[in-house]
Amino acid sequence: DLPARVRIHEVGARDGLQNEKTAVPTEVKAEFIRRLADAGLTTIEATSFVHPKWVPQLADAEQLFPLVAGLDADLPVLVPNQRGLERALALGARRIAVFASATESFAKANLNRTVDESLAVFEPVVRKAKDAGAHVRGYVSMCFGDPWEGAVPLHQVARVCTALRDMGCDELSLGDTIGVATPGHVLELLSLLNEEGVPTNTIGVHFHDTYGQALANTYAALEHGVTTIDASAGGLGGCPYAKSATGNLATEDLVWMLHGLGIETGVDLGRLTATSVWMAEQLGRPSPSRTVRALSHK
Ligand code: HMG
Ligand code: MG
Repeated sequence: DLPARVRIHEVGARDGLQNEKTAVPTEVKAEFIRRLADAGLTTIEATSFVHPKWVPQLADAEQLFPLVAGLDADLPVLVPNQRGLERALALGARRIAVFASATESFAKANLNRTVDESLAVFEPVVRKAKDAGAHVRGYVSMCFGDPWEGAVPLHQVARVCTALRDMGCDELSLGDTIGVATPGHVLELLSLLNEEGVPTNTIGVHFHDTYGQALANTYAALEHGVTTIDASAGGLGGCPYAKSATGNLATEDLVWMLHGLGIETGVDLGRLTATSVWMAEQLGRPSPSRTVRALSHK
């Protein structure tokens, strides 16, 4: 059975923008987040408190977060370590996300650590965040394939997932960072995680659309019972530390499918599309989302 309602975890302002070469003005980011909230999105990842040299586009996190903090939406932020957590909590962030990798190559490229070193960094970060009353999401990247290592064994993914769960993460997000997953693979990983004692209602899925599989993978996850789906308005995105990572699943494409299936999202598709058209103008190139194109060329 398909779920009656899905929570969309909107990542456009973070995953979507982090790879943009030219600096997007802080006020444009704030306006983007305001418009996403107006369109009915209730979980809007706002930014990352990472090293500014690693992700220059998000170096304005301290300026941006206060501009949107009062919105009626949850605003998760990424933190890679203790320093990032302190910066986020100092601004009153209530939802944080740590981000691990299922592979050594990406842990090194993204966090400058081995997988186990990064898990050791996250352990006290998750504990302190929980002590501060924050909700904690644990991302796992490269769950379905890695650009340097190729196929990623499922047990290797499950080990990182259960480590994050054991630390106290409230929710996991399974990242298909380079968009190579196919639906059967998604179902295999979800089943293995259930066998390892990770309940489906604590699992979100995070698909990039590189090979056009993101919606098919989402449908498989829905049939398995997953109700938290990550997506990026207009299909913005990529990852600066993973070659061949393209845009995330477009939120509009997701909403079109979910509403067609009779699944509630709370999102106003017209407003959301208008937001992505506006953002595309700010960035100077059209949205790659098929749904945005179809609805804006009527
Ligand atoms: P490092 O160079 O090993 O850092 O980078 P370090 O711990 O050695 O510290 C070096 C200096 O950086 C120190 O300053 C620290 O204070 C400072 P110094 O003493 O030399 O003056 N520093 C910081 N400054 C500000 N904020 C911080 C911070 N941490 C240290 N948080 C580090 C390690 C983790 C910092 C770096 O690798 C980093 O920032 N990485 C972030 C990469 C990133 O954001 N990637 C994109 C997000 S992940 C993603 O997109 C995937 C996802 O979408 C899911 C999917 O699709 O798979 C989530
Ligand atoms: Mg991503």
